[in-house]
Amino acid sequence: MKILHLVSSPRGAASFSVQLGNAIVQKLQTANPGSILTTHNLAQTPFPHLEDVHFQSFFTPAESRSPELLEAVKHSDAAIAELKEADVIVIGVPMYNFTIHSTLQAWINHIARANETFSYSGNGPEGLVKNKKVYLAIATGGVYSEGAMKAYDFTEPYLRTVLGFLGMTDVTTYRVEGLKVPTLQDNALNKAVESIEV
Ligand SMILES: Cc1cc2nc3c(=O)[nH]c(=O)nc-3n(C[C@H](O)[C@H](O)[C@H](O)COP(=O)(O)O)c2cc1C
Repeated sequence: MKILHLVSSPRGAASFSVQLGNAIVQKLQTANPGSILTTHNLAQTPFPHLEDVHFQSFFTPAESRSPELLEAVKHSDAAIAELKEADVIVIGVPMYNFTIHSTLQAWINHIARANETFSYSGNGPEGLVKNKKVYLAIATGGVYSEGAMKAYDFTEPYLRTVLGFLGMTDVTTYRVEGLKVPTLQDNALNKAVESIEV
């Protein structure tokens, strides 16, 4: 089994989404001895914001790309190859201002490409990244799994939408939540880790 662990928090080992993602990875490795792990830290090596040169490159056939356009598409091609190789993808998702961090958004912007990861057919769009298992490790200061704040969560609904659009429909979410709630914060990580089933 090939596991791809995407880290998007810039907070290193102190990050709760990293700690929860690591716990998911450890359980996967225990359940699947010999599995191969690739960790990609999107905060340490961020993908560039999409600029005009990226769009031009995406929409130019590979054989017609200039050296500049070939250079511009390198990050995207590498990320798509890495994604397609993985059987399981663990995504660390810190919530910042109700949504995902821009480091993760930048990765998504580079992997969502027509004719590479989705296509348009007569029946509408079709995701081309199939047969993947995805785990989200979401860290939040508040509680969004239930209650009044649930409608303010733009992490999980967005990720389920965009990953599903690309063909990744088998998504399981684990949450370390209430990290800024005095009565919940001390036990939040233990509770999340104990809930993991792989
Ligand atoms: C700039 C900033 C914005 C944040 N925005 C939210 C938010 O909108 N909702 C929330 O519940 N927590 C918010 N938090 C708290 C983080 O979600 C929490 O610290 C979480 O642990 C971040 O994940 P990490 O530990 O993996 O970095 C915010 C924290 C910071 C620093």
